Amino acid sequence: MSISPSDQKKRVLSGMRPTGKLHLGNYMGALYNWVRLQRDYECYFFIADWHALTTDYADTSQVRENTRDVILDFLGGGLDPEQCTLFVQSDVKEHAELFLLFTMITPLGWLERVPTYKEQQENITGKDLSTYGFLGYPLLQSADILIYQADFVPVGQDQVAHVELTREVARRFNQIYPKQSPELRARSSDAEAVLPEPQVLLTPSPKLPGTDGRKMSKSYGNTILLTDPEPVIRQKLKPMVTDPARIRRSDPGNPEVCPVFDLHKVFSSAEVQQKAREGCTTAGIGCIECKSWVADAIVAELKPIQERRSKYESNPRMVTEILAEGSRRASMRAEQTMREVRKAVGLGD
Ligand code: TRP
Ligand code: SF4
Repeated sequence: MSISPSDQKKRVLSGMRPTGKLHLGNYMGALYNWVRLQRDYECYFFIADWHALTTDYADTSQVRENTRDVILDFLGGGLDPEQCTLFVQSDVKEHAELFLLFTMITPLGWLERVPTYKEQQENITGKDLSTYGFLGYPLLQSADILIYQADFVPVGQDQVAHVELTREVARRFNQIYPKQSPELRARSSDAEAVLPEPQVLLTPSPKLPGTDGRKMSKSYGNTILLTDPEPVIRQKLKPMVTDPARIRRSDPGNPEVCPVFDLHKVFSSAEVQQKAREGCTTAGIGCIECKSWVADAIVAELKPIQERRSKYESNPRMVTEILAEGSRRASMRAEQTMREVRKAVGLGD
């Protein structure tokens, strides 16, 4: 049997909640890494709009617009619809079917033990998260992953526990619903499982402070967005926190304790970093100048992203077509898994 090239590539899947326009932290923590995977793997990347409902069910007014913004940022950031499959979760209904089947076999204790469960329930105030959907969302994530029989799941540290759960769910499913009858299995020991256990591809996450020195995060209001125009970027960086011990221009500073320098480490060339380090420790430069160099680097990084994004933004039909094609491809792949799943479970004919 001949194997087509796409069959030889390992499969990668990852998703992102539609939280609105992406900032530099989202970019470096996920998208930047995904773009580098798309050539070497068969990649599926999606926007987890159903996941958004697990916390925002009471006010869904932003979901559609946020989904659209994230798609544009995906495309602007360099995900290439010719190379990877891009889609919106709710366009591929099979995710919900597999999730339903998983709910039958998953002990409640597994979900109650997921570290983000208690944590988020306590931290997110003003929303009633004592719902079935909120408890079950890591299981929905398991369905997202296993329905593509993914080999690798590129995620940050915060999602590792969810991939662990996914592996446990796969193991339990395969145990309860083997691909072949137990008698046949006994004879050929190499019978494959219906749902292979995926592996985490841990995304290295550089320290990326926001303008107040804390971790860049939408909830802190300290972000630089991928869509921010140059003057806004410069404006946001101007009041950024620096080495607190460097009070006067004549005081030498310590780049290792300065959040601005953390940004240099991510975005500036080795030469600029060296120049900034030298200038800082000898009081040869002021913080204003140092920040303007970071701004230069960020502006340069974002320029091609913004150009690509506006191209797609001015052509909504093209975006619609990309997503239609993406969900068609994703559905086809998901259906393939579901045929095996239904057969193993004993449904259909
Ligand atoms: N839960 C992930 C997040 O909050 C998003 C997500 C949903 C996801 N389904 C996924 C990530 C499947 C990886 C694989 O960021
Ligand atoms: Fe930070 Fe640069 Fe100022 Fe040094 S010169 S304290 S690295 S902003």
